Amino acid sequence: MATMTRTEPNIIITGTPGVGKTTHCQELAQRTGLHHLDINEVVKKHNIGEASEDPDDPNTKIVDEDRLLDCIENDLEDGGQIIDWHACDLFPPSQIDLVCVVRCDNKLLYDRLKKRGYGEKKLQENMDCEIMEVLLSEAREAYDENMVVELKSESTEDIDSNVERIEQWITNWKKDHGKGEVKAQSEQQKDEDNPMFLHG
Ligand SMILES: Nc1ncnc2c1ncn2[C@@H]1O[C@H](COP(=O)(O)OP(=O)(O)OP(=O)(O)O)[C@@H](O)[C@H]1O
Ligand SMILES: [Mg+2]
Repeated sequence: MATMTRTEPNIIITGTPGVGKTTHCQELAQRTGLHHLDINEVVKKHNIGEASEDPDDPNTKIVDEDRLLDCIENDLEDGGQIIDWHACDLFPPSQIDLVCVVRCDNKLLYDRLKKRGYGEKKLQENMDCEIMEVLLSEAREAYDENMVVELKSESTEDIDSNVERIEQWITNWKKDHGKGEVKAQSEQQKDEDNPMFLHG
């Protein structure tokens, strides 16, 4: 088995369209210096999306997942990637350290998608996706359940507190992988009491 070479974690930010993935990724990238790996951009840059044949939804792209993985292979190996995508189970679990599933109240999500001008069919599909917790199930099936975290994104305060929690998690991850600064005993104690879960 290949040994892990990354010195910074890879984090997936996933969820139904419109829940706030990109908003979180941008803020997190700015605050941590990690790289916002926007899969929409990768698809565009490498031209690996085929237009959908659905006449109601011609802008949707069907992405060739094998080619996508080839395009981001080196990034994942380097580590320090914040992956922004509305699917998550294609990324190899051995290269992923944390999966955040962003969630949003249905009514709020409806208003956000309506504002984007989504047609009724696309709107309903996305609402169903959120109501049925499709991304949460996908994440829990594909990754160790200890790696999967649900984050509510309904207000700007939610964004701040989510980003702070993830920053704290990154600090812990680096410490656990021998990459962080050695902290005073009192601070170490605080980390252990912190309910932000996981120590990677
Ligand atoms: N916690 C929040 N509080 C207020 N507004 C939010 C919050 N999260 C997201 N929004 C707003 O909702 C809209 C959609 O957010 P964003 O583009 O980040 O979603 P996304 O999950 O990246 O969508 P897509 O899958 O289509 O790329 C934006 O207008 C954003 O400002
Ligand atoms: Mg987005």
